Amino acid sequence: MNTLDQRTTLEQAARKRIKDSHALDSDADRLSHFYREWASSYDLDVDRDGYCGPMIVAELAGAVQTAYLARQRAAISILDAGCGTGLLGVQLDRLGFRLIDGFDLSEEMAEKARETRVYRHVQGNVDLNRPLSDYSSTSYDIAVCCGVFTLGHVRPDGLRELARVTRPKGFIIASTRKSYAEVTSFEDEVRRLQDAGILVPAQRLNDGRYVAEEDAHYWVFQVPEKANAPTEERP
Ligand SMILES: C[S@@+](CC[C@H](N)C(=O)[O-])C[C@H]1O[C@@H](n2cnc3c(N)ncnc32)[C@H](O)[C@@H]1O
Repeated sequence: MNTLDQRTTLEQAARKRIKDSHALDSDADRLSHFYREWASSYDLDVDRDGYCGPMIVAELAGAVQTAYLARQRAAISILDAGCGTGLLGVQLDRLGFRLIDGFDLSEEMAEKARETRVYRHVQGNVDLNRPLSDYSSTSYDIAVCCGVFTLGHVRPDGLRELARVTRPKGFIIASTRKSYAEVTSFEDEVRRLQDAGILVPAQRLNDGRYVAEEDAHYWVFQVPEKANAPTEERP
């Protein structure tokens, strides 16, 4: 096999792995198992597929801090939800953020994130489809979430927990694959949360580059100064 054929084969394998990850029905056991197996080759695979979500989310965080937050970047606390191997943390660190925490459903992915040494603390076995019981309300200036509101992973109502852990007037920055936004009615959830006074859509980049085969939308939400306390019970 020549080098070009080899590269094509690796790219196809990476795309297949990414596609397979979308068929896990938000089932915590299946997702954990899948990412346990993928942790060691995840970075290479997504790089082969041109994944640029973490760079865009980090740069949006940088823009939001410069535009709206009084404190210097190094003093802004950030929660990276579904941090995976830490690609987003590395980008945030590159831009001067220093107080970065992360969590992930997969302990193996979380361990890779720890190895980057850009996070203050990384917790594994945390499920964003359930209440984030280890995280206090109004703790973070910014919550970021990249590649997690995606098919078969976290349901749109995970946004509610991200809003809860974000301080009033803080921000949530998240990517949604275009197909995810369509299939899950993500916008309906945004409207529900907005009507309930839990968050306000502040900015949105439509159809931004994400991976080779599909674009994403990039959302910036702000938590209102007097956010209503979430009342609905989640499973
Ligand atoms: C496509 S990767 C994205 C990782 C990282 N944010 C990035 O941009 O490279 C999806 C990540 O979400 C995690 N994940 C999937 N379902 C989750 C859930 N319910 N709660 C928390 N993390 C979850 C996976 O373990 C995986 O690390």
